[in-house]
This record gives sequence, C-alpha cells and structure tokens, in this order.
Amino acid sequence: MKITNAKPFFPEEDISLILEEIKKSLQTGTLTFGPNVSRLEKEFAGYIGVKNAIAVNSGTSALEIALRYFDLKGGEVIVPTNSFVASANAVILAGGKPVFVDIKKETLCIDPDDVRKKITPKTRGIMVVHLAGLIPPEIDEIKEICDKNDFFLIEDAAHAHGSSIDKKHAGSFGHVGCFSFFPTKPMTTGEGGIITTNDDKIAEYAKILRHHGKEGNEHTKIGYNWRMSEINAILGVYQLNRLDEFVEKRNKIAQRYVDELSEMEGLSLISVPSNSVHSFWKYPVLLESIKAPELEKIFRDKYEIALGTIYYPPIHLQPFYKQEFGNKPGMLPISEEVLLRETCLPIFVDMTDEMIDNVIMAIKKELK
Ligand SMILES: Cc1ncc(COP(=O)(O)O)c(C=O)c1O
Repeated sequence: MKITNAKPFFPEEDISLILEEIKKSLQTGTLTFGPNVSRLEKEFAGYIGVKNAIAVNSGTSALEIALRYFDLKGGEVIVPTNSFVASANAVILAGGKPVFVDIKKETLCIDPDDVRKKITPKTRGIMVVHLAGLIPPEIDEIKEICDKNDFFLIEDAAHAHGSSIDKKHAGSFGHVGCFSFFPTKPMTTGEGGIITTNDDKIAEYAKILRHHGKEGNEHTKIGYNWRMSEINAILGVYQLNRLDEFVEKRNKIAQRYVDELSEMEGLSLISVPSNSVHSFWKYPVLLESIKAPELEKIFRDKYEIALGTIYYPPIHLQPFYKQEFGNKPGMLPISEEVLLRETCLPIFVDMTDEMIDNVIMAIKKELK
C-alpha cells in the first residue's frame, strides 16, 4: 500500500457543490473580483478573529505584500532558518535583508534568546513561523521583544490554519498573518494565500498592492498581479467550512502516533502544550540513531511510505544564501544538527487506520 506524506482532501459531496459554484461563475463570467473572493475573505477573517482578510494568489505574495507595507529599504528582518525558503525570499523581494536565527529543538520554532542576540540598529521586524502548525509557545515573549523595540511582527502562518493558543488563532497574534493555500496545507484553494490583520491601513495597502498599486483610477504604488481568482476562492470557501473537522482528524492521527511511539527509544516527538491546538499540517519527529535521509530511503524502497522533511538544509545553508551572504555551516548549530535528524511521518485527512498502522509498524521495525 503506497502512503503519501501529505495531500489535500475534498469530500465527494463538496466536490459536487464546488462544481455547481464553478458552473455559476463560468455562466456569469465573473472570474475575478467576485462574490466568492469576498465571501472567503469575510469568513476567513471571522474564523481567525481579525477585522480584515485579503485573499491573494500565494502565501509568498501574502508575505511580500505584508513586508512591503513596512517599507524595508535595506532594513533587517529576523527570520527563523527553519522554514520554507519563501519566508526569507519575501524579505529580499520586499527590499530587506533576512537575518537568520536558530530554533529550539523542543519546538523546531524560533528561539527568542537567539532573536535577542541578532537585533541590530537595522532590525525592523520579526517573522515567526508556526512550524508544522505549532504556534511557538514563546509567542508572547516574541511579541514583547517587538513591542519594546518598536518592531513589526509578521506571522508566517502558512502551516497553521486552525492552530490556536487559548482559543486565539494563528494569524491574530502579530501585526499581520500570512497563510498559504498550497494543496498540501491544512486547507487549500489549489494555489493561493491570504493576509489577516486588525490594522485597516495594512488591509487597504494590501488591496491596492495586489492589484498593481491601483487606487481609484490611478496607480499610486508599484504593485503586481497578486489577485486570487473566483475559482480558487470557491475551493477555499468549502475547505474553510471543513477546517475544524480536518484539524480534528489530523489531531486524531497525531494522537495515534503519540500513543504508539512516545515511549520508543531512538525517536522523540514534539510535544504540544495543553492550551495549544496544533493544526498538524506535518508530523515531525526527531531520530536519534539514524539520519533522516537514510530512513526516508528505507521507507521509500521497502514500504512505499513517503517520509518528508521540513526543512533541510535550513535556509541559511541553501546555495543561494551561502553564495549571496557568505553563510557557512556552524552559524546556527541547533538547526543544523537537529534538522538532519528530523523527518515527518505521513499525516492527511483521509488517512485510513490501516495506513496509520502500517506507518507505526514500519517505524517500530526500523528503529528497533
Ligand atoms: C512556511 C512557509 N512560508 C511560505 C510559503 C509560501 O507559500 P506558497 O507556496 O503558497 O507561496 C510556504 C509554502 O509552502 C511555507 O511553507
């Protein structure tokens, strides 16, 4: 039985309803700037608990727009090195310099102590990444650092739809939250993204920027085509409706892994604080006696089970960042050591009990 690592899920009944909605869109000819984008924005803002949500065509666009609002002009933005490269690329594309910080091995998320060490007179803001769907338990500490220094706080919540701490959702902690709707994410629009904010000025700016900087009939800023289409938004409306159900299912799978694997030697799990809801976009584990790529190969060849990585190499050691900034191994020792031992067990909404059993059985056999 082939088991993938991550995939989207559309129940059959939703597929029929989605097709009906797409048909209506095609019949009316309203394929962009229509009722479905507005509906997704309104419902997503309501779900997250913020005043505004602005839909765009990717998570990367969401990040770039948010960063452009802060007019970086060569200023520095602190970014955890353990993220998808888009987090740092967006800083460069918005005219700033990403300054990488290390992670805590218990969470795989940003380390506030390393953040303090990397602040310079050029620092303008901090980007936190809710890695795999875990909001860093130190989010309040990071917020305090931002408040004290007058930094902006951007949440890269690309993995964290439905995650919360004390019922406060990811995307409502910082000045701006940026989500991706890439197919494997906790909810998808095919391709797409969304910006969440309580700040009306940021919301207005995002709406202008995603449409080539157009304000009224004039182009007042340099923007781009960062718009979301109606067809993508239709998928989003139906996926958002299921988000809590999807997160609950992911949590049930995660609980099976905890029940079966938490006592195992050779493997450690990431624990989730009791006041926190994890979206479990991914299920990362740390290996002790084997490197992740070796186990991934065994799983692929012997069991047809796809293990995944988030992320290796960390961003500061990606070839572009080594070349451009002269980064070298040893700069961020926790990430460099821990992420080579990190792999992700399969987790997706329609994963069957038999699939979960197979993954657990294979892990027990190979790590014995
Ligand atoms: C942490 C993180 N940030 C940003 C992005 C970019 O999102 P997108 O692929 O929708 O542009 C991703 C996508 O995988 C991501 O994982």
